[in-house]
Amino acid sequence: MLRLAVFVSGGGTNLQALIDQIEQGKLSDVSIEVVISSKSDAYALERAKKHGIPAVAVTKKDYPDPALFTQELLKYLEKFRVDLIVLAGYLLIVPQAIVRKYHNRIINIHPSLIPSFSGAGFYGLKVHQAVLERGVKITGATVHFVDEGTDTGPIILQKPVAVLEEDTPKSLQRRVMEEAEWDLLPEAVRLISQKRITVEGNIVRIHDIPLQS
Ligand code: GRF
Repeated sequence: MLRLAVFVSGGGTNLQALIDQIEQGKLSDVSIEVVISSKSDAYALERAKKHGIPAVAVTKKDYPDPALFTQELLKYLEKFRVDLIVLAGYLLIVPQAIVRKYHNRIINIHPSLIPSFSGAGFYGLKVHQAVLERGVKITGATVHFVDEGTDTGPIILQKPVAVLEEDTPKSLQRRVMEEAEWDLLPEAVRLISQKRITVEGNIVRIHDIPLQS
């Protein structure tokens, strides 16, 4: 069983996609053990509670000291014996100690085709605003491993989404979620649970059959 911690900050639609696929039996051998939010009012916490998933807020407000903030996150990761951390709309930088401890065991969903429109300052609607301002014709979403940079880890999966003339940042965000994010994130978790992914430097290889661990 691949035991997940899902880190959230907002609405939790990517969390919901994972919950739905697990409950529909499309993600066997995967369980969401805990949902951890950086915001105490994130609707994602409600989604978790509705499905009986332990849900906690670990906020900078409650833990302004970086070392205590890191310690609190690690407490939950160890308590729930987490194998893979999934960042699903998480807006904080994961503490370096955790990125190192969970090397190639943290994945993130980003709402663009990395390296375009990624890195510091590119999150949420800002990504889609920049896409429309640049006038690109194709955008999409990316799932990648998290390293010590921002949106710089090895890319696991990407999916394109066409930009329409009538798009607003809101309409584009919604379509990128519907057509790309909500498929890609569960698919990446599935591949990892099936032990079909290896990472060689910056390159992720997806294998047809499970690798002997
Ligand atoms: C999504 O656009 C996701 O790509 C980004 O955060 C946004 C919020 O997603 N990482 P969610 O509805 O909270 O899952």
